[in-house]
Amino acid sequence: MISARQVVQQILAGRESQPGKRAAAYAPANIALVKYWGKRDEALNLPVTGSLSISLGPLGSHVELGRSEGAADAVWLNGKPLAADSSFAKRAGAYLDLFRPSVDFHFELQARNTVPTAAGFASSASGFAALAKAVDGLFGWGLAARELSILARLGSGSAARSLEEGFVEWHAGKAPDGMDSFAERMEAEWPELRVGAVVLCSAEKPIGSREGMKRSVETCEFYREWPGRVAQDLVALKAAIAAKDFAALGAVAEGNALAMHALMAATRPPIVYALPETVAAMRKIWAARESGLALWFTMDAGPNVKLLFEARDEARVREIFPGVEVVAPFG
Ligand code: DP6
Repeated sequence: MISARQVVQQILAGRESQPGKRAAAYAPANIALVKYWGKRDEALNLPVTGSLSISLGPLGSHVELGRSEGAADAVWLNGKPLAADSSFAKRAGAYLDLFRPSVDFHFELQARNTVPTAAGFASSASGFAALAKAVDGLFGWGLAARELSILARLGSGSAARSLEEGFVEWHAGKAPDGMDSFAERMEAEWPELRVGAVVLCSAEKPIGSREGMKRSVETCEFYREWPGRVAQDLVALKAAIAAKDFAALGAVAEGNALAMHALMAATRPPIVYALPETVAAMRKIWAARESGLALWFTMDAGPNVKLLFEARDEARVREIFPGVEVVAPFG
């Protein structure tokens, strides 16, 4: 088994560290249109399948990183200092351990999310992507995009996809050390594309994605069908993007999200994130589509739905979902 620390050493081999005083970085949040659900290596967050996402432009994480003169790491989130035993500070500290030059080197980390925490978009992907960039900036390594994606993945799998804007594909890779498991931006623009966050419930979810996907791999008898399904969906989604065929993009994304939620439901014990409100929202979307509106959805490990539509339909979408928060991924 290869450890995350060994991967970091491999990437940094032959590079000089020239720590500066501070470094700042930003990374966008992303939403997968073909999902990542399941790992072949938990220590390195190596996925069973590839995945493809769209980055959310101005919704993401800003990180400032410096050396702290204190006796421990100092971590702030959205302007507030965090207790050392808070889950965010612990997760950030464990990640920074991978890069700590010596045990008495402590970091000062300020993280600020522009992803509204309650909107149901994950901020861990943008957070670890921004942190990987900030570490690179602080030590002056000048790493390539591929290396930054690998380092971000060590924090959270989906963070591998948050280094770039636009459509981003994460290649599953095959190598045991994961050097071929990184994400890349696709050459495609879709200025009319819109993503809408519909918040149905902002309570803590029953089980996080990390634990949930592990349970699915271990206990869901349909999991063996998942890699084949993802492979098909990736081909269909790339064709839809190349042809700018919105109905095809929506159909793949919605179908893939529902297939992932079916896997979750067939996991033992079952994982069901949908609430009655989630099902009601799906039915509204399907009814709107029956009446001719090009509206689709995707959803992650939570009860909220994210709408997919094009700019020309925004007013009609807002009539159906008055509280929707709309993002234009291509500005
Ligand atoms: C449902 O990236 O949060 O959002 O690698 O354990 O940190 P870890 O998991 P994470 O899982 C994201 C799962 C998902 C689908 C996706 O983003 O592709």
